[in-house]
Amino acid sequence: MSIPILLEAVGIKKYYGKFAALGGVDLKVHANTVHSVIGPNGAGKTTLFHMLTGTKTVSSGRIVFDGQDVTHEPDHRRVQRGIARSFQVTSLFLSLSVRENLRLAAQGIAPAKAMNCWHAPDGPRACAETVASVLAKLGLESFASVPAGNLSHGQQRRLEVGMALAARPKAIFLDEPTSGMGIDDLEDMKRFIRSLRDEHTVILIEHNMNIVMDISDVVTVMQQGRVLAEGLPSEIRSDNRVRAAYLGNMITGGKA
Ligand SMILES: Nc1ncnc2c1ncn2[C@@H]1O[C@H](COP(=O)(O)OP(=O)(O)O)[C@@H](O)[C@H]1O
Ligand SMILES: [Mg+2]
Repeated sequence: MSIPILLEAVGIKKYYGKFAALGGVDLKVHANTVHSVIGPNGAGKTTLFHMLTGTKTVSSGRIVFDGQDVTHEPDHRRVQRGIARSFQVTSLFLSLSVRENLRLAAQGIAPAKAMNCWHAPDGPRACAETVASVLAKLGLESFASVPAGNLSHGQQRRLEVGMALAARPKAIFLDEPTSGMGIDDLEDMKRFIRSLRDEHTVILIEHNMNIVMDISDVVTVMQQGRVLAEGLPSEIRSDNRVRAAYLGNMITGGKA
C-alpha cells in the first residue's frame, strides 16, 4: 500500500503487576484512514489507546508517530505532535455556548501552556476559522450560540469530538464515541466520523459492529492483550477466529 504510515507501534507490552494487559501488540495505521480496534471487553483496547496517546507509559515496545519516536514522550508532547483524543462529556463547559467551548479547545493547541491563540503566531483569525470549520463539520452551526448543556446527548458526544478536532490534530483517537447514543444520533455520528478521514486519521474503538463495518478502512481485532486478526471489514466479518472470540466472550459474560 502506498499510503504513508502515520503511526506504528511495535511489540507494545503493558503489565499491571504480573498481569499482561498487553502482551506484545503491533499496529500500523495509515494516514487518512479510519482504523478500528475491536474485541471483547477486557481485550486491552483502551489500554492500547493509553499507550499510543501517552496517557500511560508502556512496559516495553516502541511507538513511532509521524516519523518520530514518541514512546517515552508525555501526553502533552504528543498532543503538540498532532495526537488528539476525544474529551469526556464532563470536560464540556455546559453553561458556555458551543462556539465558546470550541474556542477554548482551539486555544489549547498553543505550545506554551500560558499562551492562548489570540497571541499565537497564526493569530485570532486562524482561531476563528478553526472554530467555524469545526462547527461546520459537526453540523452544529445553528447551535453555535446554544449552551452546551442544552444539546442532546448525541450532540454533546459530537461536540466532545469537535473539542479534540479544534486542536487540528493529525490523528484522533475515539474510544467508544457512540456509547449511550440513541438510534437517531448514531447515524449522524457515523457520517461525521467517516468524514474526518479527509483531513485526519481516525483510530476508533467501537462496539457497534454495524458502525465498524460501515466506516472502517481497516479493522484490528484484539483478544486478551494481543492482536487476533486484522483486515478489511469484509475479511473480519467472515473470520472464524473473530466469531469464536466474540462467542466465547458472550458465553463467559466477560466484562472489563
Ligand atoms: N489500571 C489497571 N490496573 C490493573 N488492571 C487493569 C488496569 N487497567 C486495565 N486493566 C486490565 O487490563 C485488561 C484490559 O483492559 P482494557 O484495556 O480496559 O480493555 P478493553 O478496553 O478492551 O475493554 C482488563 O483485564 C483490565 O481489567
Ligand atoms: Mg475499553
